[in-house]
Amino acid sequence: MNITIVGTGYVGLVSGTCFAETGITVTCVDVDQTKIDNLNKGIIPIYEPGLEPMVKRNMEKGRLFFSNSLKDSISDADAVFIAVGTPPDEDGSADLQYVIGVAREIGQYIDHYLVVVTKSTVPIGTAEKVKAALKNELTSRNVDIQFDVASNPEFLKEGAAIDDFLKPDRVVIGTESERAQAVMTKLYKPFLMNNHPVIFMDIPSAEMTKYAANSMLATKISFMNDIANLCEIVGADVNNVRRGIGSDSRIGNKFIYPGTGYGGSCFPKDVQALIKTAEQKGHPLEILKSVELVNNRQKSVLYKKMMAHFDGDLKGKKIALWGLSFKPNTDDMREAPSLVIINKLLSEGAEVIAYDPVAAKECHRKIGDTISYAKDQYEALIDADALLIVTEWSEFRVPNFKVMEKLMKEKLIFDGRNIYDLDEMKDLNYTYYSIGREV
Ligand code: UGA
Repeated sequence: MNITIVGTGYVGLVSGTCFAETGITVTCVDVDQTKIDNLNKGIIPIYEPGLEPMVKRNMEKGRLFFSNSLKDSISDADAVFIAVGTPPDEDGSADLQYVIGVAREIGQYIDHYLVVVTKSTVPIGTAEKVKAALKNELTSRNVDIQFDVASNPEFLKEGAAIDDFLKPDRVVIGTESERAQAVMTKLYKPFLMNNHPVIFMDIPSAEMTKYAANSMLATKISFMNDIANLCEIVGADVNNVRRGIGSDSRIGNKFIYPGTGYGGSCFPKDVQALIKTAEQKGHPLEILKSVELVNNRQKSVLYKKMMAHFDGDLKGKKIALWGLSFKPNTDDMREAPSLVIINKLLSEGAEVIAYDPVAAKECHRKIGDTISYAKDQYEALIDADALLIVTEWSEFRVPNFKVMEKLMKEKLIFDGRNIYDLDEMKDLNYTYYSIGREV
């Protein structure tokens, strides 16, 4: 089999590489020539554990190609996947100009039956728009070439993307013809043979499934954040509550960890887009509006605790911040809670010195030298009035507390991810604030 993936962003690059890993011949196409040149040299534009060697291996095996020519790449393809960006419009709805642009281009060059698959997260009804754009091009070319559209949303998590792709909980595919279903079945045969569920359905349901999944996960997180804040007030420990409810299999023990709010390129954007779609259709999603509100509030929780501790005066305080990326194992800073916290600290006149295992460069690109960057986690602590933990990188979990107390001015930690044990903090005589637990 032979496929083309348009867009070498996160979803496109990971999907293309993983499809190649299953033995399919894949050409990844992008309009960004520098990106394509770099990829052809084996230089990967994103940080994703395990991706680089997999890209190189599949290039060497002659199964993975990078090109800037959509025309050449689709000439012998069975399917073409659209995996370009859908950034939020000013009003929160997804901007489809790139997706539709690719559909038009496919329409200009298509010369045999193809399945055109949307892989980017797109609003319900997008496959219909893709079909219309493609048909328009065929009409203006005055040719009658058969094609089908399909929806195959992606459920990858950054930092675990390769495993998520190759060992999925499920694959969702929306089709509207048996011919397209046959092509998609062939493409996903290795997954079917390994007993990973491949769920076929109609196209609108597949498109909706993606938004419903991310919105449900975001809802779990905001719910737990809200409960955690209440736990503090009533004297409960959210860790106990989490274990207590998570062992009910109907609730499940995943995605119920309170923290500094969800970030990244997916949850905030998808929640906003679904709120928007629902409003446009005259069926406002009240629950989801609250999920977003609670999340925005949660990003300030650590800052508020800090303000309360320092009696509202952070001027001149030196704050060490561990973890900049929106979650561990990625350098992604999009919608990262750290940015909100940093902004608030700086506006109060505090000084921030941050450490992140991989995201410092990306953070610097976003906010420049408004903060300083330490070369390791201990350097950030020198003369610090407090330590703020925003992202739960593994290396922060078992630090040397004895070394830390020698470096810091005060033994004071604000932990947005509940990574330390309350009793241990007491024994070590640290003042320790966390989320949803006693001080
Ligand atoms: C998310 C989904 O998990 C993927 O299934 C989906 O494919 C992807 O969006 C997407 O739409 O492309 P991702 O954004 O990479 O993946 O990150 P997650 O691991 O889901 O974390 C999202 C945010 O939730 C992070 O800020 C994380 O810190 C937060 N989170 C997660 C919590 O605060 N508590 C939890 O218990 C879990």
